[in-house]
Amino acid sequence: MLKKSLLFKIFPTIYNKPSNISLFIGQGCNSMCPTCDFWKYEKQVLPKKVIFKFVDEITSWLGPMNFFLISIGEPLMNKDIFDIVKYIHTKKGRISISTNGLLLDKKTVDRLVESGVSNIQISINGITSKVHDSSRGVPGNLGKIFEAVSYIKEKYSHVSVNFATIILKQNLNEIVPLIKYTHSVKSNISFQPLAPTFDYGHSPDIKKELWPNDIKKVESVFKKIKKYQGSGYDISTSPSHFQTFLKYFKNPKLNHREHCNIGYYNLILDKTGDVKLCDHYPPLGSIKDNSIKKLWYSKSAQEQRKRMQNCPVRCPPLTCYLKPNLVDFIRIFQIRGKRIFFNRLGILKRH
Ligand SMILES: C[S@@+](CC[C@H](N)C(=O)[O-])C[C@H]1O[C@@H](n2cnc3c(N)ncnc32)[C@H](O)[C@@H]1O
Ligand code: SF4
Ligand code: SF4
Repeated sequence: MLKKSLLFKIFPTIYNKPSNISLFIGQGCNSMCPTCDFWKYEKQVLPKKVIFKFVDEITSWLGPMNFFLISIGEPLMNKDIFDIVKYIHTKKGRISISTNGLLLDKKTVDRLVESGVSNIQISINGITSKVHDSSRGVPGNLGKIFEAVSYIKEKYSHVSVNFATIILKQNLNEIVPLIKYTHSVKSNISFQPLAPTFDYGHSPDIKKELWPNDIKKVESVFKKIKKYQGSGYDISTSPSHFQTFLKYFKNPKLNHREHCNIGYYNLILDKTGDVKLCDHYPPLGSIKDNSIKKLWYSKSAQEQRKRMQNCPVRCPPLTCYLKPNLVDFIRIFQIRGKRIFFNRLGILKRH
């Protein structure tokens, strides 16, 4: 089979275009997660006119796209969030937003949906307040999530909710109950292995108190997850990714992605307006004074892609960096096809 890097070389402008687009719309957080250092950073927002320029260029180049709104912190803290969602919606883009749920009250949900959000991704690390709230450093967070989810499900059945869970030492016993909860609210769940503390310099220090060092227990939880996956529960992390997580938990220093293709599909707009292929690599340039297409096909982008084929960075196997394979697509389609169909029907009924 032809390698993706080779196809890109032969047909650069036909074959390769970005498909994973993340917008880091600011910095600063209202949570205090022990897994992450973003809450220690000063609040900052990426001006909306910079974001609009990026969205304009992407949509006139690639047509309507999926945009993932995220932040070096909590994206709902950006006061322009509704304008940003509305703008992308006018360009027929699909908008997903990642949130800790702390600001997700009824009014915010209403405004997000009215603005055109398609998917709300909520971070949840446990089914009990004891586990979830302490993984976030904020008492009462889990209660807010449950309230928000009931409201969305009751009032806006066409908006999808999915949950993102970090695998930690503290929540291994809560993974199965979490899967059952997300299934009961007709939502999808995905998992991330605990990465070394998130900070902007990607510190390599793993927090020992959170690290799931009981590998036997991790293995047994993964076996149970596989069973639920086989019975139609909507778990988007693929079985092969769980195998990679296991190797990583056994030996976090191993290189888990020697030939990385992320540079052929991933595009990041940073909180400063810089454009990147991967967060661990230098920016290609700023959207403020460059065209996105020019940056994507630039010499330095090509050089980075080449370096990524033998990437020296020992980055954790986070699923946002891993692409689903064909088998995953078929599995996800089997589970979600029906729901997507009925959701679409819901949208048609509303308009
Ligand atoms: C950095 S947050 C930004 C969005 C939002 N503040 C939130 O928490 O959902 C994005 C995701 O990273 C996850 N995360 C935080 N620390 C992590 C770590 N050390 N390893 C893996 N994932 C982590 C969060 O739980 C969340 O799902
Ligand atoms: S994981 Fe999200 S909510 Fe927690 S500190 Fe980091 S950015 Fe904030
Ligand atoms: S740092 Fe990780 S995600 Fe980035 S190119 Fe290297 S292996 Fe890929």
